[in-house]
Amino acid sequence: FDGGPAHRPLYGKHVLVTAGPTHEPIDPVRYIANRSSGRQGFAIAAAAAAAGARVTLVSGPVTLETPPGVDRIDVESAQEMAAAVEAALPADCAVMVAAVADWRAKGYEAQKIKKRGSAPPALMLTENPDILAALAASEQRPRLLVGFAAETENLIPNARKKREKKGADWIVANDVSGDTMGGADNQVTLVRESGEETWAPMAKELVAKQLVERIADELA
Ligand code: CTP
Ligand code: CA
Repeated sequence: FDGGPAHRPLYGKHVLVTAGPTHEPIDPVRYIANRSSGRQGFAIAAAAAAAGARVTLVSGPVTLETPPGVDRIDVESAQEMAAAVEAALPADCAVMVAAVADWRAKGYEAQKIKKRGSAPPALMLTENPDILAALAASEQRPRLLVGFAAETENLIPNARKKREKKGADWIVANDVSGDTMGGADNQVTLVRESGEETWAPMAKELVAKQLVERIADELA
């Protein structure tokens, strides 16, 4: 996307991206997490910035460099991510790539939980806010709302259901049964109301570039 304005098709647009896992604290030294590396979300933020967009990247705990030209906000928990997303609005497009923890510990223990007695402590969980669904229903809903669907089985049917249930325009369906999470490559199907498009397996940077091209076409 180097060169003149014609090569910066997202110029003047604000793109909001969530990426990475969330960490849900149990006590001062322990948390619940998942295998997301943040690579796909960071690649999308980088590609959107390269296409000329103003990009806000709300990131869970990851070990990645901030892409050039990207405004990064670091968070830990799903609740913090939800608040950061709301604060970043309005946006023309939101791409929710984060692997948000579905549950958090019901009560945060202010002191480290000790091994007392013989029985291990029972971990009680409570559901986290659904950031994508809340954004879809909000008054500040971005014009184009893109979700990801991480599935280990029934990829396309589950992704179609997710698109409708959450009120997203597009779902990028992502088979995470192999080593996709944390890996360099991704194999995705773009699920839209008008139908599905399955892309060949490719580097996460190329998935990002192709998705950003679709986004630019849609917002044009
Ligand atoms: N998502 C979100 N907030 C949550 C959970 C998910 O914003 N609390 C977003 C993810 O960023 C992704 C999409 O919703 O864009 C789908 O996430 P996924 O985990 O695949 O779907 P869930 O609805 O959580 O369903 P499940 O994990 O049970 O398959
Ligand atoms: Ca989930």
